[in-house]
Formats: sequence, C-alpha cells, structure tokens
Amino acid sequence: MKILDTSTEVDFQYPENPSFGSANLPIILWSDLSADKEVCLSNTDSLPFSPFFSALHYGQSIFEGMKAYYLNESEVGIFRGPDHAKRFIKSAQMMSMDVIDEEFFNKSLEIYVKKIKKFVPTLEGHSLYLRPLLFAQDTVIKVRSSAKFKFIIMSSIVGNYFNKNSKGQKILVNKNFTRAFPNGCGEAKTSANYALSIPALEYAYSKGFDQVMYLDALTKTHIEELGGMNFFYVENNIIKTPKLEGTILHGITRRSVLELAKTLGFQAEEENLTLKELIKKSQDGSISEIFATGTAASIAPLAEIGIEDPDTLTIQRLTFNTHPIAMKIRAYLEDTHRDKTEHSKKWLIKL
Ligand SMILES: Cc1ncc(COP(=O)(O)O)c(C=O)c1O
Repeated sequence: MKILDTSTEVDFQYPENPSFGSANLPIILWSDLSADKEVCLSNTDSLPFSPFFSALHYGQSIFEGMKAYYLNESEVGIFRGPDHAKRFIKSAQMMSMDVIDEEFFNKSLEIYVKKIKKFVPTLEGHSLYLRPLLFAQDTVIKVRSSAKFKFIIMSSIVGNYFNKNSKGQKILVNKNFTRAFPNGCGEAKTSANYALSIPALEYAYSKGFDQVMYLDALTKTHIEELGGMNFFYVENNIIKTPKLEGTILHGITRRSVLELAKTLGFQAEEENLTLKELIKKSQDGSISEIFATGTAASIAPLAEIGIEDPDTLTIQRLTFNTHPIAMKIRAYLEDTHRDKTEHSKKWLIKL
C-alpha cells in the first residue's frame, strides 16, 4: 500500500472535558481508492469539497464508529477492529458502494492509528473515537450509484460519556416514530437512518428525554433499538435483547455484551421483545433493569422509559433506579478495553 504523508505539525489543544464528537484531531487519512491503493495522511482541513458531491444530495454514504484505548507507554488497543471492518463492508454492499475490502480497511486503520497514536488520551474513561467514512463523490446531478468514492478516517478525543450525578438516560417511545423497515437499510450504518432519526430525537429532547426507542415499523409492537444504541432488559436475572431480523444495526457492543454476560455467569438471550410485555413485566417487577449498548457509551443504564400516546400525548412512565447487572458487565467490558481481561486477547488489536 502506498502512503503519502503531507500532514504538518498542528498545535492541538488537549480538551479537558471534551463533549462527544467535538474535539476533532487535526490529522486524517484519506483515499480516492485508486488502483494503486494509495492512502494519504494530511491535515484535516486540506481536502477539496464540491457542493456537487452526490453523497450530499442522495445520501450514498456509510461510516463506522469505533475506539482506540491507551494501554501503556508504548501501546494503544483498537477494540474489535476486524468486526467493524466487516460491518463497514456490509454497509457498503447494501448501499451499492462495494469498492473497498476488509484488508484495505484494516491496513488503513493501522496506518492512521500509528500516525496519531500520541493523541490517544491516557485519562481514565477517555479514548480516541475513530470515524471511518465512505461517500460518493461524483459531481453529476443524477440519482445513480457514484463512480467515484472517497474513504476517510478521522478521529476525535472523547471523555466520560456519563454524568456522575445521573441515574441513567431517559428514553421516549411513540408509535409515530419510525427508524427502519423490512427490506430497508436499518442494518447499514448509513446516513439515511440517522437523518430519519433527527426529528424524533429533537421531539424527545423537547419533552425532556435523552434518546428515542423505536418499535418495528409494520406492527408497532416489537422493540427494535434506540437511535444510536442497542436495547437490553433484565428479566428475572436473564439478559434479553431483540433478535436481529433485518432492521436493527448489528451492534459490536451488543455482541460483546451477549458474550461477556455468559462469561460472568448470566443467561443472555436474543428474542422478540414486545412493548406490551415490557410494560407489564416492569410493573410486576419481573423486569428489573433496562440498558442500552454502543461504542460511544459502552453500556448506558436507562433510568426511565416514557411511552407516549400519539393521540393524547399523555406519557406513561416506567422508572428503573438501579442497574447492578448492567454495571457489572460494564466494568468487565471497560477492563477488556484496557487489556485487563481474557477477552482483551482476542478483541484488542495492539499497535
Ligand atoms: C443505530 C445504532 N444502533 C446500535 C449502535 C451500537 O453499535 P456499536 O455497539 O457497534 O457501536 C449504533 C452505534 O454505532 C447505532 O448507530
């Protein structure tokens, strides 16, 4: 692989308390995916931009969200890099963007992380969020698959996702919210899914909630996921999450939690979960905790679900005060990120 490095030393102020996704590093890796597979390391603001780029118009764009953690003075660890590569390729194939392979993705990531290794934060709870992106860059105003794509890896310093004083996030569900549908693109990490989630998210914010929970689009009875995280509940000490049936993003943290839960001695199941059961079993106490999983937050305890009636706009509230099982799995997962568990051996790519 040919590497061209045109980056210059840029003064980067290390943020004390970075809010998620805003402390962006001044260096990126990019490639136009030419036959010689050249990748360029350059300053973040060095790329030309055309308002004609078809991704901006028609949304042919996919991405990943993954993290690198500080391990020791000489090493950082990328968490489940090859699994993110596989999901990226799958998203690309779903969106007619099959122009990159796993080897190119993994090698590019390695080149980039080696280059910016010194920026990976050492502070407890902090990490480097990596954002690989692939987008259509034809400059023809026509709906069709682009002939030209750009691949970029950028990154951002991220701090503690959790507010120490909060008992957990509050999520809102309303049958009028839709994120994905059968034969759509819910399983792809593509712009369209996030574009569609923004009005619902803004609505949830306006009602005092932090996130939206989505039900299946056709019957509005089955629980699917949150706008950017997978959903779990604990029923009689058994951990349950909705089955993946075509509309839910295959979360890497979700998969890790299912595996780690078993290691920690819990039973963990993938099932169809309904909102009706969630309400009933929360009221009778058989569901004791609910939580969400994702790269950004790892495991986020959920303190409240608001179920809003779309006609009357009244909100039924279910609250969950403690999350002992979620916290136990989170502690183990976070130790795994820092190379402290058996699972670290197979899930960390050390550079
Ligand atoms: C829609 C959606 N669901 C779930 C997740 C969690 O996936 P992961 O654990 O791979 O970050 C994300 C975040 O990437 C997401 O955007």
